[in-house]
Amino acid sequence: MPQTFDLILSGGALVNQDGEGLRDVGVRDGKILEIGDLSRASAGETIDCRGLHILPGVVDSQVHFREPGFPHKEDLESGSRGAVLGGVTGLFEMPNTNPLTTGEAELADKVARATGRMHTDFAFWVGGTHENARDLAELERLPAAAGVKVFMGSSTGSLLVPDDEGVALVLSHTRRRAAFHSEDEYRLNERKPLRVEGDVTSHPVWRDVETALRSTQRLVRIAREKRALIHVLHITTAEEIDLLAQHKDIVSVEVLPNHLMLTSDDYARLGTLAQQNPPVREPRHRDALWRGVQQGVVDVLGSDHAPHTLEEKAQPYPKSPAGMAGVQTLVPLMLNAVNEGKLTLARFVDLTSAGPLRLFGMAGKGRVAKGYDADLTIVDMKRRETIRNSWIASRVGWTPYDGMEVTGWPVGTFVRGIKVMWEGDLVAPSIGEPIRFQAAP
Ligand code: DOR
Repeated sequence: MPQTFDLILSGGALVNQDGEGLRDVGVRDGKILEIGDLSRASAGETIDCRGLHILPGVVDSQVHFREPGFPHKEDLESGSRGAVLGGVTGLFEMPNTNPLTTGEAELADKVARATGRMHTDFAFWVGGTHENARDLAELERLPAAAGVKVFMGSSTGSLLVPDDEGVALVLSHTRRRAAFHSEDEYRLNERKPLRVEGDVTSHPVWRDVETALRSTQRLVRIAREKRALIHVLHITTAEEIDLLAQHKDIVSVEVLPNHLMLTSDDYARLGTLAQQNPPVREPRHRDALWRGVQQGVVDVLGSDHAPHTLEEKAQPYPKSPAGMAGVQTLVPLMLNAVNEGKLTLARFVDLTSAGPLRLFGMAGKGRVAKGYDADLTIVDMKRRETIRNSWIASRVGWTPYDGMEVTGWPVGTFVRGIKVMWEGDLVAPSIGEPIRFQAAP
């Protein structure tokens, strides 16, 4: 008897663990049921994907959605709306909200706020502190916990574990891979006088290469002593890429599109809009990050979506806050880079779905394979578009890439088989659920 499906995506070029090839994808009850030639099968809906690529759903493992605490910048609904418009199906959200996500109650509150209100599936990082370090083994195993995130240098918000003893204490209690913002707080404090009022080009002078490198060296040493797995967020220096290439047995590496696309040359054009922690740096670092992508040192891409309003950004440096919106532009920017020959589509998939699956152990996500959740990102590699502020769903309504022409565009977003975005329109109510994780070791 011919099979029936809820949904068939037909005639697209599927990119998955099997390589790239023309394959139909059949979905039932939110899961992938068949991959192959489904021309004789019937379905509730069949979508013609000829000329398009079908990718495993893109997971952005670093976003700041500001809820609770800062709804004028973002909330879980608006942030995730931007995500699905940009082709993202899964999100790991950061703990520097108000209150901070440092305990069971705050995590449960975020899950309650997100369920049925976010447009993607979601997980939340738990902030690691001196105070909660002894509870982290339990906290990191709670439903929807992505793991533990530590700020070694201060950035937006008050989370901070600057000292070796504190980092060692955290890593004594984590079993899952813990994520780190790696900048040396002591050096940041010493160098504060180097900030020049009104001059954002002094930002990477203050938060210099040595600030990042010193912290990452300390972190790797402590992780080795504690036999812990770590994830170093938003790497920005050539020196750290070289260092971390020697420690891939325990360290995973994230880079941001911002640090692959922007350099210190862009401060003249963008001013404080390009202000981020760790900073956008000289072109040699961007080039080294690309080599890290090409040579496999980099494991995942995150957007570090960190929205601040234009009004806040207009304050004179250093009063201006660090961070920019990014969840909606991750896929277009990187598809454009694929078309420019900077990486392959297969490597993009490795960085945005297979990578998060491998590092964080998502259950049933991160792969287009029979039995997995039907999270899919459909892209048109030939489509030319101009990124515009008016397209950005974030509460802050701006992107540093306003006016940039790109080739390659997300045209469809499916979360557990539900068509959430098609051709730029939001076409389903919010259906977000917690991402499940394989049991921690
Ligand atoms: O630039 C940044 N902004 N870096 C961070 O680490 C935090 C983020 C934010 O939350 O604004």
